[in-house]
Formats: sequence, structure tokens, C-alpha cells
Amino acid sequence: MKKVIIDCDPGIDDSLALLLALKSSELDVIGITICAGNVPVEIGGINAYRVLKMLNREDIPIYLGDNNPMRRDLVTAQDTHGDDGVGDILPKVEIPKDAIKLGAVDYLLDTLKEKENVSIIALGPMTNLAKAVERERDILKKAERIVSMGGAFRTNGNCSQVGEFNYWVDPESVNIVFENVDRPIELIPLDVTRKIVLTPNYREYLKQMKNDVAQFMYDITGFYVDFHWMQERTLGCVINDPLAVAYFIEPSLCSGILTHLECVETGRAMGQTLIDIGDFYRKTPNVFINTEVDEKKFFELFFNKIFPENKKDNELVLKGY
Ligand code: BDR
Ligand code: CA
Repeated sequence: MKKVIIDCDPGIDDSLALLLALKSSELDVIGITICAGNVPVEIGGINAYRVLKMLNREDIPIYLGDNNPMRRDLVTAQDTHGDDGVGDILPKVEIPKDAIKLGAVDYLLDTLKEKENVSIIALGPMTNLAKAVERERDILKKAERIVSMGGAFRTNGNCSQVGEFNYWVDPESVNIVFENVDRPIELIPLDVTRKIVLTPNYREYLKQMKNDVAQFMYDITGFYVDFHWMQERTLGCVINDPLAVAYFIEPSLCSGILTHLECVETGRAMGQTLIDIGDFYRKTPNVFINTEVDEKKFFELFFNKIFPENKKDNELVLKGY
């Protein structure tokens, strides 16, 4: 089992990613840190708790980060994820005292120092990671692997022509993090996540399963589906973050290029990931950017990990019957 901290901003697709991580026997999720992004951190914390409670994993600690990106005000994505971050449909959840703590940055610093072989899966803006670096320059060098969902290389952005949400929200943090690692960050950009569409057929399958987890997945993605239709006439919804978790478990799902990344901090191209595949600046590679994905294999892994009891049906649905 690989020890991982999941840094996230749940978020509809973050919630699906948490589900996948918690249902995967390859992963030992030792903590969840919440960054501000899709929703303010307090709301993100509540949504992480919802998933833990549903799977009876309230033993996993949740820590909140700060509510603002490194050097600017937060712009949330509540138009995409709902005011409550999970599609504005679920009943309120009671949060026991101490279930959600402050101090995400302290937790990251302490854990990376105290424990060996801890990896980070980052599913939101990089604010918590960058704040940890600002306190201790070399801290991320202690992480075994860092997988990040963010950026857009040969595809358009989703916040502007070129800006992808996680990196557009806090571009300064992206640069702080990428400048202070000693092994490449494994990047899952929009180039690959755009291919991960939870189609109306897959959603219908979730509904037919008639179990609580599947119903939760069906319910929270309704808002996301409406957003995708309104925004870009996609039927279904793009679920970005679960691909980062699936790739962490099974890197052969994707392939890519070892190169150098830097993020544009200001102006109209804010958030753009500048990828130096021509090696103009002869900089040490700081990213392994994934450019291809086997989406069928992803969904196979996704359904088989979350619903291992339905392996036969998963296979039939994935075959297109
Ligand atoms: C990313 O932005 C967020 O809205 C999603 O949760 C995902 O992490 C995609 O651009
Ligand atoms: Ca996210």
C-alpha cells in the first residue's frame, strides 16, 4: 500500500476521486488537506467528510488550508460544482466536533518530515503545497511522488483560452512548487482529462446499480452534466480528478513527455502552462506531462475499484451492451 495525502477542493470530481482512492487497496490515504478552489475551504472540508462518512472512514483526518490563493483573491467554481460544491442536491450533513481541523500546511510539513515514502495527489490549486514550500524550501523533496491535476498543453483552457482552473486560480503557487522539487511532478492536464467523460450511459448504469455509493455519484454529477451542456454542449461530464488517482495507481493508463513547465502569472494568458518541449532554456525537467490516455482502461479501473462486487456488469457496460 502506498501512503498518500490527497490535497483537494471538493468539488464534484474531487469527491469522485476521493471515493476512488478510498476504495483502492493500493492506497493508504493517510490524510486529506483542503485547498481553496472550487469552493471556499470550509465547504471543501464538509464535502471531504461526506465521502469519508459514506465509506465509514472518519478515521482519516481532514485539515483545512487558507481561504485565499498565495497572492490574490479566490475565484471559486461554484457555477460548475454548485454553491455547496456537490451539485446542490444533498441533505446537510452534521459535522462532529474535531472532524475537520485547521492547519493543512502544518500537517503537510509534519507528515512529510516524520513519515517516509509519502506521496501527494494534488487535485486543486497548489496553494497548500506552495505555502509549505515557503515555510521550508526543501519539503516537497521528501515526497515520494507528486501527481497534480492541472494545466493545459495542446488543448484550450477551461477558464480562458489557455488557463486551466487549478493553475489559473493560483499561478504563483504553481511556480513556487515546480521550482522547488527535485524530481518531476507527474502532471495530469486537461489534454488527458477531457477524454474522461462520464457519459449519460455510465450515469444510467450508476442509477441502475441501486446502491448508496452509486446513487451519490449519480446525484452529485447531475449539476455538472447541466453545466457541461450549457457551457460546451458536451453530453455527460468531464471528471478530471479521478484520472489523477487512477494514474497514480496505474501509470500505464497514460503516457507523456519529460520536460520543463512554468506558469504565466499575469495578463490574458494567466494560468497558461508554458511547456518547453523544444528545450529552449536547457532547464532541468520538472514535469512529466501526460499527453495520451486510454480512457476505456480508465473506466474499467474506475468501476472495478469502486464497485468490485459488480465486475460482470461493469464489463458488459464497458463493452457497450
Ligand atoms: C479542475 O478544476 C476543478 O473544477 C476540478 O475539480 C478539477 O480539479 C479541472 O480544471
Ligand atoms: Ca479539483
